[in-house]
Amino acid sequence: MKHYQGIIFDLDGVICHTDAYHYLAWKKLADRLGVYFDKQINNRLRGISRMESLDIILENSKNVYTDAEKHEFAEEKNEYYRQLLVQMSPADLSADVKNTLDILRKIGCKLAIGSSSKNARYILERIGLGHYFDAVVDGNEIQHSKPDPEVFLLAAQRLGIVSSSCLVVEDAAAGIEAAVRGGFDAAGLGDARVSPFAKYHLIQFDELIDIITGNRK
Ligand code: BG6
Ligand code: MG
Repeated sequence: MKHYQGIIFDLDGVICHTDAYHYLAWKKLADRLGVYFDKQINNRLRGISRMESLDIILENSKNVYTDAEKHEFAEEKNEYYRQLLVQMSPADLSADVKNTLDILRKIGCKLAIGSSSKNARYILERIGLGHYFDAVVDGNEIQHSKPDPEVFLLAAQRLGIVSSSCLVVEDAAAGIEAAVRGGFDAAGLGDARVSPFAKYHLIQFDELIDIITGNRK
């Protein structure tokens, strides 16, 4: 039986549904620029940085933009995104996620966030989890976004747990790859549920309890 001492959660699309807000904000920018963008393209943006996401979106653009213009576009998208985040509250944290986190904590499992987002701490505040996790590592602290394992390795280091004793929970293919490259087992949710590289394929968040207590192999 595998014994995990800690869990590192991705944020957007795992703890809360900010992945839907990322889509809406990118869609607004893409429409303004006249660039085709849909949910399938959006799935390629899960887990990767803001600037890398923009480069993927601009693959469908007929125009070539300077770095300065691209930074302005990324900033514009972030403003649209922040307008959506402002409306978030603890009501945006599902009972399933909150109850599961509480149970995991109660049974002594260390809990961390490993997110590529520079807005992660703000989102955690909005949904009432500002001081909840044992460690939070976000896009402001890393040099390389997922699929590089940097964010998860730093989170595990802050928890004081080796990667082989930590489980990573992800909704992004890039995040599952980052976990595996860092020596972690991964649980895939949502878009990443079907990933062949995930050890566990979750339909519901509370399945994590059985994994941690050893009731599920
Ligand atoms: C990740 C999202 O969590 O954060 C990506 O899955 C996003 O889609 C990335 O691009 C960066 O987010 P932000 O908030 O710094 O623009
Ligand atoms: Mg995600």
